[in-house]
Amino acid sequence: MAKLAPSILSADFSKLAEQVALIEQGGAGYVHMDVMDGAFVPNITFGGLVVQSMVGKTKLPFDVHLMIERPELRIHDFATPQTEFITVHQEACPHLHRVIQQIKDLGIKAGVALNPATPVETLDWVLADLDMVLVMSVNPGFGGQKFIPAALDKIRQLAQLRSERGLPFLIEIDGGVSLGNAKGIAAAGTDLLVAGSAVFSASDIPSRVRDFNNIIR
Ligand code: DX5
Ligand code: ZN
Repeated sequence: MAKLAPSILSADFSKLAEQVALIEQGGAGYVHMDVMDGAFVPNITFGGLVVQSMVGKTKLPFDVHLMIERPELRIHDFATPQTEFITVHQEACPHLHRVIQQIKDLGIKAGVALNPATPVETLDWVLADLDMVLVMSVNPGFGGQKFIPAALDKIRQLAQLRSERGLPFLIEIDGGVSLGNAKGIAAAGTDLLVAGSAVFSASDIPSRVRDFNNIIR
């Protein structure tokens, strides 16, 4: 059963806790938090203080997506009692194996994200250590971009590898997810669907989350 992880990147930051309460009310699985540093990606969002400030404001587990350079220097800032996943980018980590261990040593599940141009094969030697692989279906940095359909092939490739090797990692997709493409994405083997603008642009956010859930479950 796939789950929805709405991204607060598209939420109204002036009332973040209220916005997160709305996705919880609709039945979201996670709250997806996009951390951007203006270096790895062109945009800047928020850091550890904002993530920490959300602890206790919702019952939803945190799915933290780090789009930052040198994530190994910052991991501990995001390891709150509510953080279930911390995901780093393959492209930002020359010592990826070490960063994965660093996340797991804090008792947090470790994910690695792949940009659209990065092949699945780059994860061959860490796949068995991972709790999640995040497939970017847009180039990271902004919400509201168009879904890149080749991401579906990447999801299928990962789902096949997972079953061939008997591995437990989850598969997540992020970028351009809409009510229109969610069914096909879930059918390809995706466990977690991130959606930002498609959730927070709705006039009735809980009902939009329920619409997604009806499609992907
Ligand atoms: C993009 C972020 C996404 C973003 C998705 O860099 O990682 O999580 O919020 O936004 P939408 O769903 O609008 O494409
Ligand atoms: Zn994200």
